[in-house]
Formats: sequence, C-alpha cells, structure tokens
Amino acid sequence: MKKILVLPGDGIGVEVADQTIRVIDHLNTKNNLNIEYEKELVGGASYDVHGEALTPAVLEKAKEADAILLGAVGGSKWDNVERDKRPEAGLLGLRKELELFANLRPAIVFDALLSASSLKEEIVKGLDIVIVRELTGGVYFGQPRGIEEYEPGKQKALDTQIYFDYEIDRIARVAFDLAKKRNNKVTSVEKANVMETGVLWRQVVKKTHEDYSDITLENMLADNCAMQLVRNPKQFDVLVTDNLFGDLLSDCAAMLTGSLGMLPSASLGAEIDGKRNGLFEPVHGSAPDIAGENKANPIATILSFAMMLRYNLNQQDLAKNLEDVIQKVLNEGFRTADLYSSDDQTLVSCSKMGDLILERL
Ligand code: IPM
Ligand code: MN
Repeated sequence: MKKILVLPGDGIGVEVADQTIRVIDHLNTKNNLNIEYEKELVGGASYDVHGEALTPAVLEKAKEADAILLGAVGGSKWDNVERDKRPEAGLLGLRKELELFANLRPAIVFDALLSASSLKEEIVKGLDIVIVRELTGGVYFGQPRGIEEYEPGKQKALDTQIYFDYEIDRIARVAFDLAKKRNNKVTSVEKANVMETGVLWRQVVKKTHEDYSDITLENMLADNCAMQLVRNPKQFDVLVTDNLFGDLLSDCAAMLTGSLGMLPSASLGAEIDGKRNGLFEPVHGSAPDIAGENKANPIATILSFAMMLRYNLNQQDLAKNLEDVIQKVLNEGFRTADLYSSDDQTLVSCSKMGDLILERL
C-alpha cells in the first residue's frame, strides 16, 4: 500500500486534481493499484482557513507520504498578504522542507498537438527534452533579502543569488544520470560571463562530468539558451540549470508543446533509506481567470501522476499506459479550450476530458 497526499491548492488546481483523483480511483479498482490518498489544503486555500499557506500538520503528512500530488497555488486574491504567508510560500516551503532539489520538467510534443504550437511544425515535431531545474537554492531562498529604506522616503530591494558546490554537484548528477537513459547529452545553463554563481556552476558541473565520460557536456549562457529553445529546440536532450533560469526556461519550453496545460513535473529529493521524497505537479499555475468554470486542461496533472507512478511508485507499465491513453484521446481530436484550434476538433470541458481518459483506461 502506498500513501499519497493530494494538495489541490487554488484556482484550477482543484479541478485538475479532481480529475486526477478519478484516475487514481479507477486504477485502484481496475488494476489493484492499492493507493490510499488523503486531501489537504495548501496555498491560498489553506491561508483562508488557517492563516498560513502550509500548516505544520500538513507538512508532517507530506513528510510521511510516499508521494505528493499538487494542483496549483496562488491568485490575485492573496496579493496583499505578507510574503511568508502567501500561497507561493506554501509551495516553496514544501520544496525546501522536503529537500526536493531536483525538478524534472519534460517538454514533449505530441503529434496530435503539432498545430497548437506557436512555432512551425518542423521546428517542434518529435521534440522530447527535459529541463532539470535546481529547486531548493539560488535566488529563491538566498539570504539576505528584503526591501529597505536607504534614505527617508527612498527604498532599495535586495535578493541574493547563492549556490554551494554540493548543490550544483547533486543537481548535475541528476541530469547526467537522466541523460544516460536518454540521448547522452547534457546542456548546462548559467551566466558565467556575468555572475559568480555561473562561474562556480560551470566549474562544478565540469568536475562532476568527469564521472560521466560517455555523456556529452555543453555549456550555454542562459540568454542564448532562451533563444536556442525557440530557434532549434531539438538540439537539446537534457538541460540543467539553476532555480531562476529553470523557472523561465521551463515556461518557454512548455509553450513549444502547444500549451502550458500539457506539462507535468516531478520534484525529487535525495534517496534516503530507499525512500525518495517526491512532489508531482503541473507546470501551469492556478489560472484564476478560468477557475471554477470546468474549462481547465487536466492533462498536465494526470501526466504528473504518471511521473509519480514511474519515479516513486515503481509502476512503469501503468505510467506508460496512462501516457498512451492521453495520446489516444488527443489523436481522436478531443481538446480542452487551451488546445482547441480548429473546428475539426471537439472542444471538451475539464471533467469531460477526465471522462474520455477513464473510458479508455
Ligand atoms: C513554478 C512556479 C513557482 C516558481 C511559483 C508558483 C512559486 O512558477 O513552479 O514554476 O516560481 O517556482
Ligand atoms: Mn514557473
């Protein structure tokens, strides 16, 4: 028996998590998956009830669970809440407390969605890359930070970008290990031309690479990488980069696939006593503009659950089957609003997309 903590969060997070729970229920019954799950609040939803985005009780449950499935957090409703209580603080707290330092964000272009991409078909056809984003360091967590008055009535703001050698080494290992199972190429992304953290990043990755002689390592400056991602994304296999660059580049890579609504992610910790913490969530946010309208695309979250099956629950076959079913539904022409582009397709709601996936599972 495996225990999953489901944290739907805010906005469309609730709707996409609901559809994923239906998939879990289905696999439990039909494939004896034996997953037990519990739902809890996180983000703005938790703030509204408890005055904080992540309560100690929920954090405790997250630590005990075999894996966590998260919907999305955030929304303008909480714009004026203090930073450490904001919805995003709930997610960042989970990442930090569970030491989920490795964020895997695959960007795969399904043939059926080729025309949904804003790029020319030949540029993205067959694209299959993974961004490995460092998730518990860098400017997201660096101290000191703050906004201060430097003269009466005048303010300055400060963030700190900081990386320790061991943080770079362990994320580089995740990327190299992943590349071994793929096409043996890693592109390490930083700004060594401007930033000290970039210089150290490049040095450490080079050193770690000595343990992976059969992998090709390439270094790329982050601005060039953003350009290359839209110019010729198929040159990449595995990209490894820091927290902030990874945030930007993964949104960019996501859009190559046609919609942010398609992208799953896995955030993994180190393996300790055979157990590896894992949080699985779509790359998209809470989309308050369409929340509660049953319009959201649940595929990114269902694919995140497929990643959970693969990486944390050792159910590779079920993961593959689930991914194939999603591909099938798309091949048959069903599209949620984010993907819908022509009238030979069938526009479906979030829950209808769930129905279609269940029927074919
Ligand atoms: C993401 C999100 C988060 C991030 C926010 C919600 C804190 O954009 O997971 O990419 O910046 O990491
Ligand atoms: Mn982001």
